Amino acid sequence: MLTILALVLMSLTPPKTIGVMGAMEVELELLSRDMVVERDDTIAGTVYEMGSLYGVSCVVVQGGVGKVGAAQTAQTLITEYDVDAIIFTGVAGGINPQLNIGDIVISKNLVHHDLGQILPDRFIPFDTLGFFADSLLVDLALQAAEIVVLESIPEEIRGEEDIPKIILGRIATGDQFISSEAKRLWIEETFHADCVEMEGAAVAQVCTVNEIPFVIIRSLSDLANEEADVDFQSFVIYASKNSSLLVKEIFRLLAR
Ligand code: ADE
Repeated sequence: MLTILALVLMSLTPPKTIGVMGAMEVELELLSRDMVVERDDTIAGTVYEMGSLYGVSCVVVQGGVGKVGAAQTAQTLITEYDVDAIIFTGVAGGINPQLNIGDIVISKNLVHHDLGQILPDRFIPFDTLGFFADSLLVDLALQAAEIVVLESIPEEIRGEEDIPKIILGRIATGDQFISSEAKRLWIEETFHADCVEMEGAAVAQVCTVNEIPFVIIRSLSDLANEEADVDFQSFVIYASKNSSLLVKEIFRLLAR
């Protein structure tokens, strides 16, 4: 019922242009292949491609790794390209121990895990709840999750499940690649986050202050532990693909 209502509302106020962000080339590769590019601009060394995906007008941009590039790029999408919503697609490290490589987190909310006060014996975060994603976009992502066909989990890391899980969850963001079980545990206990990455909360903060709807989609390339480096190299393409497949499905729904 809620989904139908959300879709009716969506169709009454259709987003005109969607900003699509990723941090690395690999995260946008699949979507770029399907995009019809009409024009591109370079602003502050960053390339903005305008065109459409499955008939939906969009601007696709690779904002680079980290919060500064992400914030700058999100603000440019809003100010210069007047986007009506931003969708971020990419990879993350797993924080929730129930999640495995390939699983997808749709952002409910996003928090900066590296923003706070350092005391001699501990770190106190300024905020543990952060910024909430747009409920209509989240609803659409959840609907896309019902129909998307994801790549099955590579054999070498396959457990009982063959197909990755998709959950609605909390994302922690910081200017750090986490490859430490102790730090993973701290992020889990402090923020109750499901995954960790390096851009989402910055995009969320910029969108929130500009009143622009957003949702962040992340597929796990590693589990943020001591093996994260090696896992990231092995699974970044696989995870990027899964995140893109879900975003593709969101666009197909938007195009209806
Ligand atoms: N993106 C993918 N894996 C990550 C990790 N372990 N830490 C931060 N960002 C990531």
